[in-house]
Amino acid sequence: MTTYVLPDLAYDCGALEPHITGEVLELHHGKHHKAYVDKANETLEKLEEARGQEDFSRLAGLEKALAFNLSGHVLHSIFWRNLSPEGGDAPSGELARLIARDFGSFQSFKSQLTEVAATVMGSGWAALVWEPIAQRLLTCQIYDHQSNLSQGGITLLVIDAWEHAYYLQYKNQKAEFFKAVWNLWNWDDVAARLEAARQVDLRVPAAAAAGAAR
Ligand SMILES: [Fe+2]
Repeated sequence: MTTYVLPDLAYDCGALEPHITGEVLELHHGKHHKAYVDKANETLEKLEEARGQEDFSRLAGLEKALAFNLSGHVLHSIFWRNLSPEGGDAPSGELARLIARDFGSFQSFKSQLTEVAATVMGSGWAALVWEPIAQRLLTCQIYDHQSNLSQGGITLLVIDAWEHAYYLQYKNQKAEFFKAVWNLWNWDDVAARLEAARQVDLRVPAAAAAGAAR
C-alpha cells in the first residue's frame, strides 16, 4: 500500500527568518505536519482492518479522521513550497494577469487573502484556488483543514492560520504574521500550480457562462 510521507523542506529551517523563525518552522514541519502524515496513514490502516473484519461500525469517524489528516498533509505540503527565502514582491506573467482580472488588482487580492486569513474563526487556512468550471481564481476560507471548501477548486497558494503557525513568534499579533508571509511567496511555484490546474477539466459543460442571466 502506498503510504504518505513527510516531504523535506526545500530550504533550511532558519532560511525564512526573520519572517518565520527556525524554531517555529522546525516544530511546524517536523511535529505538526508529521502528525498529520502519521494519522492519515494510521487511519488508512484502520480502514483496512475494518474491511478485513467486515466491521464498518466506526466508518463515519474514520472518514472524518482521514479527511482532516490527509487535508492537513496536502495543505502543509503546498504551503512549504509556496514559501521561499528568495520570495516576495509580486507575481508576473499570466498569474499576474489573472489576479488583476479576477480581483481587480494585486493590492486588492493581497488585502482580500490577508483578510480571509485574519477572519478564520478557530483554526483554518486562507487559500487562493483555481475554479475550473468558470475558469477563474477565487479565495477560500478553510476551517480546520477540510471544511468550507468549494468542490473542484484547486489550491494554488495557502496561508496557515492555525495558532501553531505563528503563536511562538507573533503571540496574539497574528496580523503581523499574515503580513510577513508576503515577503516569502514563491510566485514561480504559484504560477506553475496555476498552469497545471488550468489543464483540469471537471467535465460539466454549460455550468458557467460569461454574462449569463441568473
Ligand atoms: Fe500548520
